[in-house]
Amino acid sequence: MNKLIAPSILAADFGNLQRDVEMVNNSKADWFHIDVMDGVFVPNISFGMPVINAIKKHATKTMDVHLMIVNPDRYITDFKKVGADILTVHYEACSHLHRTVQAIKAEGMKAGVSLNPHTPIAVLEDIIIDLDLVLIMSVNPGFGGQSFIENTYKKVEQLKHLIEYTGSKAIIEVDGGVTDQNIEQLSEAGADAFVAGSFVFKSENPTKTIENLKNLVSPE
Ligand code: DX5
Ligand code: ZN
Repeated sequence: MNKLIAPSILAADFGNLQRDVEMVNNSKADWFHIDVMDGVFVPNISFGMPVINAIKKHATKTMDVHLMIVNPDRYITDFKKVGADILTVHYEACSHLHRTVQAIKAEGMKAGVSLNPHTPIAVLEDIIIDLDLVLIMSVNPGFGGQSFIENTYKKVEQLKHLIEYTGSKAIIEVDGGVTDQNIEQLSEAGADAFVAGSFVFKSENPTKTIENLKNLVSPE
C-alpha cells in the first residue's frame, strides 16, 4: 500500500499560513493534519472553524481533522462545512462512540478514532469494524514537539492484528514525535499514515523533509 504523510499544520507559521499550505500542496505529502484543541480535553487551545476554513481555501489535499475536544458530536456538521474529509474523535472523549462514528459517516466524512498513549487497543474490539481510521497517539495529546513514546510500536502491532482478525478496513495513523528515526519501524509494525509536525516545519527545507519521510516508507 502507498503509505501516507500528513504534515501537522499546528507546527506551521500561522503568520504565513497560505505559504505553508501551498508548500504542503506542492510537496510529496498526502494529507493536511489539522489539530483542534479545546483547553478542556487537552491542556492547550489551538484553533477552530475560521482557521480551518482559511486552510481549506488553499488546500488541494485531503483534510485530516483530529479533534482533541470534549463533546465532539456538537460540531460534526460544522467540521463538514469547513472542509473536513476525515474526522477523528478521541475514544476518551466519547461516551457514545458508536453513535458519534455513525454521525460522522452520515455527514459523508471518513470516521476515525484516536487513542491516548495509556488507552489499550482492546477497547476498540467492538467498534473497529465501523472505523475508517485509527489514530494512535505516540505522545500525550496537546502539544507539538514532544518525544515519541516507544510503547507505540507494540500498540501498532496489536492494532494491525485486530484489524486483520476482524476484517476491518481501518487504516492505522500514528501521531506525535514522528521523525526519520522511527517512521520505518512504525511502518514495519503496520502503520499506514504518519503525522509529522515539528520534524517537517522546523526543518531547513520542509518540502525536502516531507519527500525524505515519504521515501522511507513508500519508495518510488
Ligand atoms: C499533538 C497533535 C499532533 C502534533 C504533532 O497533540 O495531535 O498532531 O501536531 O506534532 P509533532 O510531530 O511535533 O509531535
Ligand atoms: Zn494530531
